[in-house]
Amino acid sequence: MTAEDPFAHLHDEAYADRYATPRADRRTLVGTFGRPAEPVAGPWRLTLDPFEEGLRQAWTAFDDAPPTTWTVPRDWDPEGGTPVPVPSCWNLLRPEWTHYEGAVWYETTLDWAAGADGERAFLQFGAANYLARVFLNGRLLGVHAGGSTPFSVEITGTVRPGPNRLMVMVENRGRPDRVPMHHVDWFNYGGLHRPVTLLRVPPVFVRDFGVALVPDGTFGRVRIDVILSDPVEGEARFACPDLGLDVPVPVVAGRASVTVEARPDLWSPDAPRLYDVALAFGPDLVTDRVGLREIRTRGTEIVLNGRPLHLRGVCVHEDDVATGRMTSEADVMRRFAHLKDLNGNFLRLSHYPHDEIVARLADREGVLLWAEVPVYWAIDFANPATYADAENQMLELVARDRNRASVILWGVGNENADTDARLAFMVGLAAATRAADPTRLVGAACLINREAFRIEDRLAAHLDVIGLNEYFGWYEPDFEGLRRLIANSSPDRPVIVSETGADAVVGLRGEGRTLFTEDWQAEFYRRQAEVLAGAPWIRGLAAWLLYDFRSDRRQTRLQRGFNRKGLIAEDKATRKRAFHALAAIYAAMAADPDPDPDPGRQNRGSVV
Ligand code: GCU
Repeated sequence: MTAEDPFAHLHDEAYADRYATPRADRRTLVGTFGRPAEPVAGPWRLTLDPFEEGLRQAWTAFDDAPPTTWTVPRDWDPEGGTPVPVPSCWNLLRPEWTHYEGAVWYETTLDWAAGADGERAFLQFGAANYLARVFLNGRLLGVHAGGSTPFSVEITGTVRPGPNRLMVMVENRGRPDRVPMHHVDWFNYGGLHRPVTLLRVPPVFVRDFGVALVPDGTFGRVRIDVILSDPVEGEARFACPDLGLDVPVPVVAGRASVTVEARPDLWSPDAPRLYDVALAFGPDLVTDRVGLREIRTRGTEIVLNGRPLHLRGVCVHEDDVATGRMTSEADVMRRFAHLKDLNGNFLRLSHYPHDEIVARLADREGVLLWAEVPVYWAIDFANPATYADAENQMLELVARDRNRASVILWGVGNENADTDARLAFMVGLAAATRAADPTRLVGAACLINREAFRIEDRLAAHLDVIGLNEYFGWYEPDFEGLRRLIANSSPDRPVIVSETGADAVVGLRGEGRTLFTEDWQAEFYRRQAEVLAGAPWIRGLAAWLLYDFRSDRRQTRLQRGFNRKGLIAEDKATRKRAFHALAAIYAAMAADPDPDPDPGRQNRGSVV
């Protein structure tokens, strides 16, 4: 809207076209890598914008003159917003915002003081669900799609000394072409749900920094990968004092990759050894704390540091009755404590990238992780833009967590029907993931072939590990189907039961298969374990799931907007009988982690 023609925007349904670029995607991401990151904590204000008037009327061009001075009426002013904390999910801040799906505007003043000569400055967003547009002083700096991965926008040249107006439009509508699309079994929280920080870096800086054990079975070679912000020549320096390493890293056209001999103590759940590493290029210094380990498959085994691994796990959503998708260190350490009480060693971070503190703490605590992008159910597999979105989210996740030893598997999909379009989409995504990170396993939670009634999915040939989601005993009344499935299947690679579970309401008791009772949920796991023991190629189990969570799909009197398959209620404290049943099952597994050795295995012994 302008003083000249306040009505022009009313008839312009192509208003968003001029706000489509520049894209803030994987290529613009600036890894923090131990640099001092200044939080942009506000105060922030939020304004709902269901019709995207902010784009139509260019609210970002408005000055902050008080209404009494306006010559043309406006529909927005900075003082009109509601004070909100960032990070937060707007759904939990006001009752009337609980089910709001649409666009909102965050606004704050960024007070800026210039730093070193030539410095460059970036705003980094931990995550914004789902589409974010970042404006500084009215200029669009970046557009990011994807609700759970970090992105950066450069403010150098736009930011000025003193107060700057920072406005971020976040829109979380469910759409068929998005990743995930509009139909999911979890709550669509919206907002800037992870921290916003400010990074100051030299004119040429380290954009990407990878340190990993070369997965060649020698356990004696460490590869260092570097990508700089600019295609320059020069020499970086890599140091790892505890490994006695202080080596030059030649940089050509802004990239470097060197492999050095070393004999690290290998990272494992029982011995989560971390090494302090640093890389300097000119005035830029990046650091990290990394575990060095090798994860691979061997026949139907998953092998960690050369020894067979059996995964005793549970799935978990980012969901909290008080904070929604926000994660805190206390929340993560509580998850790990519950996993430990389950005698587990593995978490499947469902169904989207979780906060980066999860993998950092898992590195320290020795917890194994499956991390994934939300290619969930009926994604628009034939849409190139949808593929680009999925691939970008995966590459942002890999860039963020590439140095996290605890992450052993990248999940590229969940319960997607086996169609030609899906196969092409997923094969491409699996290949892109492997190209970005050859040091981890790639898997997906697959569906079974219902006609042949066996584990069979054309995607499996492109995966290292087949995830099997099965609910025999819950969605299918008896376990006979699971027995048939096992008898009919002979996979040539490891299988993890990536989901199995049953709903239960705390305190609801009953005999036999009385649905939603604690008794049946507990018996469900006992029966599952009994039948699954007959499949030696099953190398892990991820129970669905640790905590009850919000899902608007679930509206019976027993669920009331919650999926109640949690082993613990949504209070993250009240344990159901099934928790103890599964803990006993995992204790038995831990005592004999390798009940059915793979005939092809050379050496005995199992790491956990
Ligand atoms: C599916 C799906 C989960 C869902 C679960 C359930 O397997 O992957 O996201 O919540 O089943 O039905 O509870």
